[in-house]
Amino acid sequence: VSESFVVKSHTGPYQVHFEQGALARLNALVADTIHVIIDARIADLYAQALSELRAASVTTVEADERAKTLEQMPLYVGNLLEKGFRRHHRLVAIGGGIIQDITCFLAATMMRGVDWVFFPTTLLAQADSCIGSKSSINVGSFKNVLGTFTPPRAVYIDVSLLTTLDERDARSGVGEILKVHAIEGPDAFQDVASAYERLFQDETVLARYIQRALQIKKRFIEDDEFDRGSRQVFNYGHTFGHAIEAATEFSIPHGIAVTMGMDLANFIAWRLGHSDRKTFDRMHPTLRRNYRGYEGLTVPLDRFFTALQHDKKNIGQGEITAILPDMSGCPVRIRRPADEPFYAACTSYFEGCRLA
Ligand SMILES: NC(=O)c1ccc[n+]([C@@H]2O[C@H](COP(=O)([O-])OP(=O)(O)OC[C@H]3O[C@@H](n4cnc5c(N)ncnc54)[C@H](O)[C@@H]3O)[C@@H](O)[C@H]2O)c1
Ligand SMILES: [Zn+2]
Repeated sequence: VSESFVVKSHTGPYQVHFEQGALARLNALVADTIHVIIDARIADLYAQALSELRAASVTTVEADERAKTLEQMPLYVGNLLEKGFRRHHRLVAIGGGIIQDITCFLAATMMRGVDWVFFPTTLLAQADSCIGSKSSINVGSFKNVLGTFTPPRAVYIDVSLLTTLDERDARSGVGEILKVHAIEGPDAFQDVASAYERLFQDETVLARYIQRALQIKKRFIEDDEFDRGSRQVFNYGHTFGHAIEAATEFSIPHGIAVTMGMDLANFIAWRLGHSDRKTFDRMHPTLRRNYRGYEGLTVPLDRFFTALQHDKKNIGQGEITAILPDMSGCPVRIRRPADEPFYAACTSYFEGCRLA
């Protein structure tokens, strides 16, 4: 199966291709002008498929959060320059969100901007982050504080690479797929929820929902690439998800924290009268299923609220800005007082709701 679609961006359109055996495409690239940045695990697991790979340089990176810190960048830059990197050369990223963020950031800043191409290998990257232009780099322990909007020149998606993914990374990606479908509306969410089990069992079904998620996201990023308006609903589950991640020292994979963040958003929206109980009840079983194994996770409330306040986007002058479902069950941007009822609703969620 080979399909593709175009995403319009501020640097021009780029193609997203779906193809089996996408890594073989690397062989066709002009070897002496490409520099590959690859996830160490992929380099290992797919050594055979990559054995023909010829490139001016190959940088193998262990995908952990430390790898995408500002402090690590001189290492990558030095390596590229030693291998003769020039402005007309291209970077090729092969991996998940961490490899994407490193490569995208380097592409944005090296020689004031060079082209890059992306082969996403995690479900999160294939179904969500591979389009949308963002790079996010850590500085020490401050997560995702530096970033740019730098779209790739092309994206090549091979769903069969996902068969080697750990179960928790698969569920992390499914968390983002659930988010994107919830943004589309209750019918789209219901549709993916009813296919939940098959996402893990049937590659064709998974491919269909990856494509659908990207099609939905495409509309928003083409309308608001720089995240000033309509795209902000993609923060659904993230305001609270990030705070859950921070409060638990990142012991929960991002997309799984997002599912818990959506559940919490639905709960407090119901408790505070922005939405109704129906929306919470409708989505809770699927969301809970996706964060299973973490439902008993202790989220220290003081650290959770500190993390919420730390993110200036969320809380300021006694107000919180968050994406919450409205009465129709669609996520919208809501600004409301960060008052006693708000804190009580969050507390009540963590005190029982996840187990129910
Ligand atoms: N720039 C963006 O738009 C954006 C969006 C969302 C998340 N992110 C960032 O992405 C990161 C998370 O990315 P992620 O969840 O894609 O994963 P990741 O890059 O952290 O990789 C997760 C794990 O999967 C392994 N892996 C990757 N592909 C594999 C495969 N095909 N088979 C087996 N193992 C494989 C990796 O080695 C790693 O151990 C975070 O740092 C997050 O901040 C960026
Ligand atoms: Zn996310």
